Amino acid sequence: MERPMRAAMRTVILGGGPGGLYFAISLKLRNPAHEVVVVERNRPNDTFGWGVVLSEDTLGNLDANDPVSAKAIRDGFVYWDDVAVHYRGAVMRSGGHGFSGIGRMRLLNILQQRAQELGVEIRYETEAQDVSAYKDFDLIVGADGVNSRVRAQFADVFKPDIDVRACKYIWLGTHQKFDDAFTFIFEETEHGWVWVHAYQFNADTATFIVECSEETWKKSGFDTMSTDETIAACEKIFGRYLKGNKLMSNARHLRGSAWLNFNRVLCERWSTGNVVLLGDSAATAHFSIGSGSKLAMESAIALANYVDTEPTLSGAFARYEDERRFEVLRLQSAARNSTEWFEEVGRYLHLDPVQFNYSLLTRSQRISHENLRERDADWLAAAEMWFESRATGGVPKAAHRPMFVPLRVRGIELKNRVVVSPMAQYRAVDGTPTDWHLVHYAERAKGGAGLVFTEMTCVSPEGRITPGCTGMYAPAHEAAWKRVVDFVHSETDAKIALQLGHAGPKASTQLGWEDSDAPLATGNWPIVSASDVPWSPQNQTPRAVTRADMDKIRDDFVRAAEMGNRAGFDWLELHYAHGYLMSAFITPVSNRRTDEYGGSLDNRMRFPLEVFHAVRKVWPDDKPISVRISANDWVGANGITPQDAVDIARLLHEAGVDMVDVSAGQTSRDAKPVYGRMFQTPFSDRIRNEAGVATLAVGNIYEPDHVNSILMAGRADLVCLARPHLANPYWTLHAAAEANERGITWPKPYWPGRDQMYRLKSRPDVMTGKV
Ligand SMILES: Cc1cc2nc3c(=O)[nH]c(=O)nc-3n(C[C@H](O)[C@H](O)[C@H](O)COP(=O)(O)OP(=O)(O)OC[C@H]3O[C@@H](n4cnc5c(N)ncnc54)[C@H](O)[C@@H]3O)c2cc1C
Ligand SMILES: Cc1cc2nc3c(=O)[nH]c(=O)nc-3n(C[C@H](O)[C@H](O)[C@H](O)COP(=O)(O)O)c2cc1C
Repeated sequence: MERPMRAAMRTVILGGGPGGLYFAISLKLRNPAHEVVVVERNRPNDTFGWGVVLSEDTLGNLDANDPVSAKAIRDGFVYWDDVAVHYRGAVMRSGGHGFSGIGRMRLLNILQQRAQELGVEIRYETEAQDVSAYKDFDLIVGADGVNSRVRAQFADVFKPDIDVRACKYIWLGTHQKFDDAFTFIFEETEHGWVWVHAYQFNADTATFIVECSEETWKKSGFDTMSTDETIAACEKIFGRYLKGNKLMSNARHLRGSAWLNFNRVLCERWSTGNVVLLGDSAATAHFSIGSGSKLAMESAIALANYVDTEPTLSGAFARYEDERRFEVLRLQSAARNSTEWFEEVGRYLHLDPVQFNYSLLTRSQRISHENLRERDADWLAAAEMWFESRATGGVPKAAHRPMFVPLRVRGIELKNRVVVSPMAQYRAVDGTPTDWHLVHYAERAKGGAGLVFTEMTCVSPEGRITPGCTGMYAPAHEAAWKRVVDFVHSETDAKIALQLGHAGPKASTQLGWEDSDAPLATGNWPIVSASDVPWSPQNQTPRAVTRADMDKIRDDFVRAAEMGNRAGFDWLELHYAHGYLMSAFITPVSNRRTDEYGGSLDNRMRFPLEVFHAVRKVWPDDKPISVRISANDWVGANGITPQDAVDIARLLHEAGVDMVDVSAGQTSRDAKPVYGRMFQTPFSDRIRNEAGVATLAVGNIYEPDHVNSILMAGRADLVCLARPHLANPYWTLHAAAEANERGITWPKPYWPGRDQMYRLKSRPDVMTGKV
């Protein structure tokens, strides 16, 4: 029988860190009759680590929960506002970030004292036992940190997932002052880059966390150094920032090296019987977003609340998990982005200091472009000016958002960086675009995007995905496309790109809004692919192309490109993604060939590159060609991985492809994509910064803020939006009005609408009559 709550309970908390102590305080505050014991292996003044950071939000929560300890914590705080980044001899500062730091020991001492005042018994220097030793207690809290013994004891129930992250770090302190800013320092050594996260936490001490890749760590010999030797080596590397001050360790009580790998902990469950996990034992958040203590203390409040108000412990645990799990996952997602940024920092170390700084500040994706403006408008304006002057070679008179900065590729000048992504309309008749296409593309071109893509336009009748797909293989097609292009050129200042493709194993299938990718009910035509691998058991088995087929297909692409040029298209894109013919060559999921077109990546790329070279020859020099790829098959090592995508992009770049349009997936029915906001952008980022080729990003990008931050951080050069442009052809014009950006062209007949929209956006109260 579960003991009804609210009656006085005996509670033992295993671990006296911020989480355990704050739970003890919170429980006692809610019911002083509870008996609360904290078991802590260390002495009151022993602590591993130096300072912790808490945000103003967290402080507000602490104020509401226990004003007494909150005041003591506030009194102990050091506040600072700026972030300073030292990189390649430059120091960049931005403001408005609002941090506060406190020594971990000071925080623990405040909490220890407050707990004792409230009648909590703290048993120092006492090793927690197996939980069976605490049978006399009604509630057992496992607050024993990242290496929790309690979690290990019930591993079969809690099902922990521990991800040992790649970088090595050591948590040091120094009397050198970093009191004007949260400071990041990146230093290049002969063995690689080593960096520091430094922040002041009391009048004369700062935290100084040194971090590097495992490779650099080993090459530097840190793996064999004692703590003293490590400190001496770090003092040498960061001498000019330490100005003669020493680095200090307070982890000498730890066995072995003081260097650690961060463990990301997740647990499927946090409670069993009368045992519950709290803080780092249940879930950790990487120190680079400084939220571990916040999570532990806010979870302590929630647990105390429910233990106090729910009739049973199991009910309390269920509500505690419910409430806290979402917040924990949210923070862990931001922490993962941030951890990965540092793990992959080598990718960004070629960036200009301004862009590097921006990329660092937005690494967790919690801080957006406009958010940075709220924090430090001057800094962001300077960064925007830098972006524009680099793109245009001139000095802009005023700052503009990156999405409104032009881009020149070969002889084509795009007025801005927003792209209408290719989207099949399934409205063609025998491959011929109809009035639907004229109106559809005309609307998007009037809507303000710099570049409008056509849907995948097929190079032969048998290469069509569906009977409704557009083609470029008959004179009527060329004429109908010319009508669309002429309208775009005569009535708008958008550029228009033709996307060419061959559907391969996904040809002869139903319209998008029918049973997409399924064969036609009647009238199927024979299909080909790299190998005789059907898209699904339901689809036709394609015939593996012969060399003669390949010659014809290559020539079909060339003919279509020539027709596209005559129709006046500004830009050409070859569709090598999404499981269509070229994609079916590139991915091992569908390429089983044993000749020189199968096997290694070089072999699998041979035909797609041959087609590109043939097309490039007939496509005018001053017009760009981009290639769309699937950068991840989402089937792990059995298919294309993001690393393979870098190699693919390199091959394309070397062949002369101007830009890589980075999509993903749709290559295998076994794919397990991980969706989310901007979910494919990391692949673009990686390709752009590792292969050194310009990219287009696409995939669940829908806010101007997304577009601006992708561009400004150097994650892509152009940004494609597909579905948002179906919902709103005027997406770009509206984004410009929202941001009060004036330089964008509206069609003349729409000027009164434009003027009203700008007025409404700038003075909403007046215009809606609310004042
Ligand atoms: C380098 C680094 C920097 C960080 N910086 C920040 C920051 O700026 N801001 C922030 O909010 N967080 C930061 N953190 C995270 C933060 O330290 C933890 O997330 C936070 O301390 C979690 O609190 P906790 O009470 O759950 O665990 P801990 O603080 O780890 O406390 C667990 C306690 O349990 C005790 N214990 C463990 N096992 C036993 C046992 N068997 N018997 C008895 N006692 C035991 C330990 O001695 C310890 O006192 C940082 C972490 C690291 C590694
Ligand atoms: C209706 C529709 C049709 C599409 N047709 C094509 C296409 O012809 N060629 C192509 O490369 N991608 C095509 N896509 C994929 C989009 O270009 C884009 O990559 C995808 O929708 C993700 O972007 P979004 O989140 O902005 O919609 C299509 C998407 C949609 C919604």
